[in-house]
Amino acid sequence: MVSREGRPGDTAWNFAMHRLFRTKPVDHLLAGSARPEHRLRRTLGPVQLTGLGIGAIVGAGIFSTVGTAAAGGSQHIGAGPALTISFVLVALACGLTALCYAEFAARVPASGSAYTYAYVSFGELFAWVIGWALLMEYSIGNIYVAFSWSGYFTNLLDAMGLHLPEWLTINYRSAAAAHAANTPGEGLTAWATAPLIGGRRIILDLPAFAINVLITALCYVGVRESRNASNAMVVVKLAIIALVIAVGIAHVDIDHWTPFMPNGFGGVMAGASAVFFAYIGFDAVSTLAEESRDPQRDLPRGMVLSLVVCTAVYIALALVLTGMVPYHQLDVSDPLAEVFALTGVKWMLLLVSIAAVVAMTSVMLVFQLGQPRIWMSMSRDGLLPKPFARIHPRYRTPGFSTIVTGLVVGVPILFTDEAFILDFTSIGTLFAFVLVCGGVLLMPRRERGPSGFHLPYINGRWIVPALLLLAVLLVHLGLPGYFGDLFHPAGRHGDQRIPLLVYWALCAALAVLSFVHRWSLIPVLGLASCCYLLTGMAVSNWKWFGTWLLIGLACYFAYGHRHSRLARRANPV
Ligand code: ALA
Repeated sequence: MVSREGRPGDTAWNFAMHRLFRTKPVDHLLAGSARPEHRLRRTLGPVQLTGLGIGAIVGAGIFSTVGTAAAGGSQHIGAGPALTISFVLVALACGLTALCYAEFAARVPASGSAYTYAYVSFGELFAWVIGWALLMEYSIGNIYVAFSWSGYFTNLLDAMGLHLPEWLTINYRSAAAAHAANTPGEGLTAWATAPLIGGRRIILDLPAFAINVLITALCYVGVRESRNASNAMVVVKLAIIALVIAVGIAHVDIDHWTPFMPNGFGGVMAGASAVFFAYIGFDAVSTLAEESRDPQRDLPRGMVLSLVVCTAVYIALALVLTGMVPYHQLDVSDPLAEVFALTGVKWMLLLVSIAAVVAMTSVMLVFQLGQPRIWMSMSRDGLLPKPFARIHPRYRTPGFSTIVTGLVVGVPILFTDEAFILDFTSIGTLFAFVLVCGGVLLMPRRERGPSGFHLPYINGRWIVPALLLLAVLLVHLGLPGYFGDLFHPAGRHGDQRIPLLVYWALCAALAVLSFVHRWSLIPVLGLASCCYLLTGMAVSNWKWFGTWLLIGLACYFAYGHRHSRLARRANPV
């Protein structure tokens, strides 16, 4: 794509717009990463990348949130046994997005993931916004994983006869909330037994904090060490999950699958929003472009293969879990352990806890590898201060960024709670996914190269408007109970209607643009499906997300806008 440089004759307004939306030429980008002081160690092949992808995907989502997705929490509007369909739907959205990531990875084999892709397609301002949103996926997401890790780790210690006091295993906010609502359990015990210093209760999730320190140290030391640790963890977690499925099948009672869809498609979609977190992570593979031996060929393989493996595992697990016990009994934070407790297979409990701890450790590891590499790319572009791009002379890792990531994850662990973090992560990640799919549409079409991935082009000129027409017909004429729930604003409550109305407007715009520009079908469907998942986010989350973006924009104009290398190259004065 051609860089849109500011020219002396431009008006001030045009010049400002040029600066904000100037795209970065791919060859500048690749030249930057090839400089000796920026060079990382290329050690990753296709198997390792797939392993790291699985390492990043299977974690807290499947071990914790899947129960709420089936049962529907306090409102009981979960997917029920149709959780399987929720998994398939999210897999479709993520699969389409993974293909778009793969296309970008083949074109722009540099670290930085969606941030870098946005820089070459949408320009600097969007690139910054994406970099800022990815902070939510990797760092904020890791806070949630650390909390879930701590829950299972504490169970494991208990099973070995080691009991940590409650005030050391729960975050302050959850304990305060339990105290305010007088809810019996760990939180209330923590509040009652916590020591006081200066009149303030000392309550913190020590295991969550400690695992973050350990992971940060591992990432600081080196990507090869991290890769070896991650591969071992992936083997352990897949082996134990295979055992869960094998043992669970023997306890499946097919009567539990009826009714299959207790809350219609509305429940399936609520389940889909909840299980989205379980799929996050395949994109983390793309942050390792500069450490892979043949990024153009192996990154796409790594992303797509890891997603395929995880989808198969998730669907099998969903069928087994909902077949073992009535779905409403899954409404707990450790559903995989719960099903074996309820069916009396006690020996599996310890194994499930081990698998959960191992699985979540590997997620944290890959995310904590990903975040510093995004900052490194942003710093090379001048959007963050120079130390963020500094490579450790001995370990060849972005040392400073790794330590800052550790702090960004570790400090909030002391002050936040799980529920807030989970939705915040999903909304930020979906936002990045939307822009990656949209970015592919903006890139000029290219010929199939001799090697590497190539996104198949299917002309969306007629198909996209036809799909839109079909959806309108189905909503207004037929299947109101099913399709109506999904797409009709009347199927949503109060404020939740607004995102759906915006979504319809967006689909209409997509249909028109696909018709005019003969847009490629795969990215258009990826964009539409990710936007649909976004409509399921609560309005309060949108407000938080908006605030987060505003803070990000303030940071950009305070620093990045003035220090951008691209701007300086165009206007050396
Ligand atoms: N997909 C990752 C997990 O479930 C983030 O932990």
